[in-house]
Amino acid sequence: MSRILVLGGNGQVGFELLGQLAASGPVTAATRDGRLPGGVACARCDLAVEGEAAALIARERPAVVINAAAYTAVDRAEDEPELALRVNGLALAEIGAAARAAGAAVIHYSTDYVFPGDAGRPCREDDATGPRSAYGESKLAGEQALAASGADHLVLRTAWVYGARGHNFLRTMLRLGAERDELRVVDDQHGAPTPAALIAAATVRLVDAWATGDREARAARSGVYHLASAGDTTWCRFARAILERAAAAGLLSRAPQVTAIASHAFPARAVRPAYSVLDTARLRATFGIDLPGWEAGLDRVVSELAARP
Ligand SMILES: NC(=O)c1ccc[n+]([C@@H]2O[C@H](COP(=O)([O-])OP(=O)(O)OC[C@H]3O[C@@H](n4cnc5c(N)ncnc54)[C@H](OP(=O)(O)O)[C@@H]3O)[C@@H](O)[C@H]2O)c1
Repeated sequence: MSRILVLGGNGQVGFELLGQLAASGPVTAATRDGRLPGGVACARCDLAVEGEAAALIARERPAVVINAAAYTAVDRAEDEPELALRVNGLALAEIGAAARAAGAAVIHYSTDYVFPGDAGRPCREDDATGPRSAYGESKLAGEQALAASGADHLVLRTAWVYGARGHNFLRTMLRLGAERDELRVVDDQHGAPTPAALIAAATVRLVDAWATGDREARAARSGVYHLASAGDTTWCRFARAILERAAAAGLLSRAPQVTAIASHAFPARAVRPAYSVLDTARLRATFGIDLPGWEAGLDRVVSELAARP
């Protein structure tokens, strides 16, 4: 079985990957501080430190490197763009070069925020990029650095990631919903909320179908793919759906009122695209992976939370 190295094992997607990859091969997890959630020791890899990722890959010699680590603080990146670029951009040149030398395939995640948000229809992989934020710029730089490295790779652009654990919009809404009678949420940004567990499940299928397959077929199918829930919504409509389901499941005593506001009424450091729904036809056509609608994903995450003791 192929050895798999997961970078960012304590993030939303990384954590789900560690839970789902067991049948695909022996997994080595790495985090920035060498600890997994719960305190268990794992490999250490800080992407901000030049050479750490390359040394880890050279030492472990995995068949597959999955990079779920990223600088994801979208607003803070406006104030520290060099660090965001180092972690999300330059580190990918290093990971790609080390993976290529080790003959390893790389699976990496990127974002809908590489798009400017003015397409008016779901964005395809080959559509013109044009990030509107330092975070988006840094993620685009990572895509390009990985492609230029010559390693066999998949860049999986995803969007609006959330789950039952980690820092995410759903958990923020549940916390605020328990404290307030009314929430004001932006209603003019469109996207598709995508559960971390769904991203991990699709990635496991890609590890089995692509990363551990024939080298020639792997190289032929290298490139960028969109991986996000089907359908689209706005943050405001997503908030209402979260709170209604949470109240019905007994996670909240009642659903607070959610008032729609415009982005300019909620000033944030980083500009977000107004419309960054991703067209996932390429993933379906190439790998047969069909992604459920965002509402079905939300039902599962709320059920998971409601089932917790
Ligand atoms: N979250 C979203 O809404 C979203 C949307 C579109 C695309 N994506 C992409 O999807 C992927 C997974 O995102 P996620 O939501 O799972 O992210 P996340 O929950 O924020 O986790 C990010 C992980 O990266 C780690 N990390 C940060 N800086 C690091 C560094 N210098 N060296 C090593 N590790 C570092 C964090 O470790 P610490 O715990 O030590 O900080 C954490 O484990 C990322 O590529 C992200 O860009 C996310």
